[in-house]
This record gives sequence, C-alpha cells and structure tokens, in this order.
Amino acid sequence: MSNDSGFVPDLLKGAHVFITGGSSGINLGIATSFARVGANIGMCARDPKKLQQAKEVLEPLGIQVVTATADVRDYDAVSQAVKVASEQLGPVNTLVCGAAGNFLCPAEELSPNGFKAVVDIDLNGSFHACKAAFEDLKTTSGSIIFVSAGQSFVPHYAQVHAGAAKAGIDNMMQNLALEWGKHGIRTNSIVPGAISGTEGVRRLIPEEQVDKFVGRVPLARWGELDDVGQLAVFLASPMASYITGSRLVVDGGLNLMGAAVPS
Ligand code: COA
Repeated sequence: MSNDSGFVPDLLKGAHVFITGGSSGINLGIATSFARVGANIGMCARDPKKLQQAKEVLEPLGIQVVTATADVRDYDAVSQAVKVASEQLGPVNTLVCGAAGNFLCPAEELSPNGFKAVVDIDLNGSFHACKAAFEDLKTTSGSIIFVSAGQSFVPHYAQVHAGAAKAGIDNMMQNLALEWGKHGIRTNSIVPGAISGTEGVRRLIPEEQVDKFVGRVPLARWGELDDVGQLAVFLASPMASYITGSRLVVDGGLNLMGAAVPS
C-alpha cells in the first residue's frame, strides 16, 4: 500500500490499534494515519452510525476495522469492545484513549453534573480503557497514547471541567509509565492544538473569534489531522521505543501564548 506520510508504508502492518472515541474528529484522523502504515483498527464510540461511517472511510485503505458501540463511562462495555476487537485483530499493540466530551461553560454556571460528565468521559473513561487493554498490552509490550489538551497545563476560561480532566489524564499517563514500564508498556500523551474542521474547534472557539484565532498561533495556521496522526504513529512505532511518560505538544506553539482570555 502506498502512503504519503513519510513513514515506511508497512511500518505497523498487522498491528492492532484500538481507539476509544475513534469514529470522528481527531481520533478518526489518528485512525487514518495508522491505517496508512498498515495497522488494523479496533474502535469504540457511542453512535453506531458514526462507527459505520468511520469503517467506510478506513476499510478502503486496505486494513481490517472492528467497531463496537460503547460509552467509555461503562467499564464493562469498553472491556467487551476491546475483547471483540482482540478476538479478530489479535491483542492490542497500541491503545489510543481519545474519547472526550467538552463544552464552554464558566465555573460559576457549571453544574456538578456537568463537571462530572466531562471528568467521567475523559479521565475515568481513559482509565477504563487502560484496564480493559492491560493484559493485551502486557502480551505485546504495547503502548498507550492519551489525547490530552493544553487545558491540562494552561488555564483556559470556561474550561475548569476539561482542565481538571486532562490534567488528571497527564498525571495518570506518568503514573502508568512508572508502574507498567516493567511490562514493557510505554505511555505518552499528545496535546493537539486547534485542528481544522474538528468538533473541538466548533465547540470551543466561538464563531465570531474563528478568524482572529489563528493570529494567536505562532506558526500562523490551523493544525491538520495529519499533524496529530503522524505523531501518534511515531509514538507507537519502534522509533519511539525509549519514549515513555512524556507529553508531546503538537499545537503550532499555541499554548506558548499563555492563558486564553475571555472575549
Ligand atoms: N454548558 C453547561 N453545561 C452543560 C453543557 C453546556 N454546553 N452541556 C451539557 N452540560 C451539562 C448538562 O446540563 C448536565 O448537567 P445537569 O444534569 O446538571 O443539567 C451535564 O452536563 C450532563 O449533560 P448530558 O447532556 O446529560 O451529558 P451526556 O452524557 O449526554 O453528554 C457531554 C456529555 C455533555 C460532554 C456532551 O457534550 C457530549 O456528549 N460530548 C461528546 C462530544 C464532545 O464533546 N466532543 C468534544 C471534543 S473537544
């Protein structure tokens, strides 16, 4: 299979990459980058229609795709999704914890349940996926990639819920690197910036600010799905075999600009 990624086309041929929330946005972009280097994709998400659409995008790249409907807040459902994918694709080589929920809401207006919903999806959901894939990852000496965010280390207005969840994810990433290194399991997180055309951009950048937003990015452009996907492929590959416990930022320098201010 040919690809224009710059990686050897069969770099991860036959590997099983399981992605939570993989049916859309940045996570589908990550799936596509993995598919281009020959990896098979297992994924779970909440909406069966989006899962089917993702399958239709990925299968023409010549790989196998196994999907399951599951909400990452439900440990049993995630476990079952990983099990079904592993039965067909072999044990998980790389787990991508990508499922996330977010919206803009100032802390003083945020309900406890709104805070909980985001922490449950992002943080608890990521731990559920790690637990569900742990035995596979031990077998394969595999790796985990968490999808974090700048909110983890730069305070953003109206993002107290996402900031708490993503900071928790980065902390968990480092603790698991410490504990699971003895099994040969590597864990890292990726911090995407503003990636063009994604739900994150639609939800988090008010429409009237979209045009001037890119002016805040030191590299003066939107990120592309491939910018994130290529980093994920690198982290999963033997080229990154000594990298663990790291947070890698792929944001064109956006988070160097400091705290976002309310408009
Ligand atoms: N502002 C303030 N509070 C909000 C909100 C918003 N825009 N959207 C949801 N909430 C609150 C709800 O009011 C509710 O709290 P309440 O019971 O006190 O009223 C709580 O969050 C849970 O909302 P609900 O819609 O029941 O949750 P859900 O589990 O169906 O959905 C979300 C989870 C809220 C995160 C939803 O936005 C989602 O499913 N997102 C997935 C996709 C996504 O966000 N991607 C982002 C990528 S950056």
